[in-house]
Amino acid sequence: MKIIIASDHAGYELKEKIISQFQKEFEFDNYGPFSSESVDYPDYAHPVADKITKGEYEYGILICGTGNGIGMTANKHAGIRAALCWNKEIAALARQHNNANVLVLPARFIAENDAFEVVKTFFSTSFEGGRHQRRVEKIDIH
Ligand code: RB5
Repeated sequence: MKIIIASDHAGYELKEKIISQFQKEFEFDNYGPFSSESVDYPDYAHPVADKITKGEYEYGILICGTGNGIGMTANKHAGIRAALCWNKEIAALARQHNNANVLVLPARFIAENDAFEVVKTFFSTSFEGGRHQRRVEKIDIH
């Protein structure tokens, strides 16, 4: 599975750790940043969201300090369902019920091992469809 991943400075370290932890399972395209120097999360969230809505990638991971700024930005794009996940139960439900296509992590509020569990769960859980399909179709404003 090919995944596009990006962060801001607050998420930089966790991003690098996730890439190295899952390098055997997933093929990551790292959109950056490439250091922990201060950056603005929309400069990373918008391009990643664009690439997903254009079909270049099916899934992404976005990481900032709280997960809120980078997730809010991505969710401005129709077709993006970015889910802020801080434990594996939320991650499973984000896939099962919301068909989330972007996993958002709060780097400053999640332990490294919990983040790994969240990644593992998110990418091994399928959308349930059924009644959730109808709801997901109502998310975007057309
Ligand atoms: C950066 O200091 C911080 O504001 C950012 O990572 C994020 O938490 C914003 O929502």
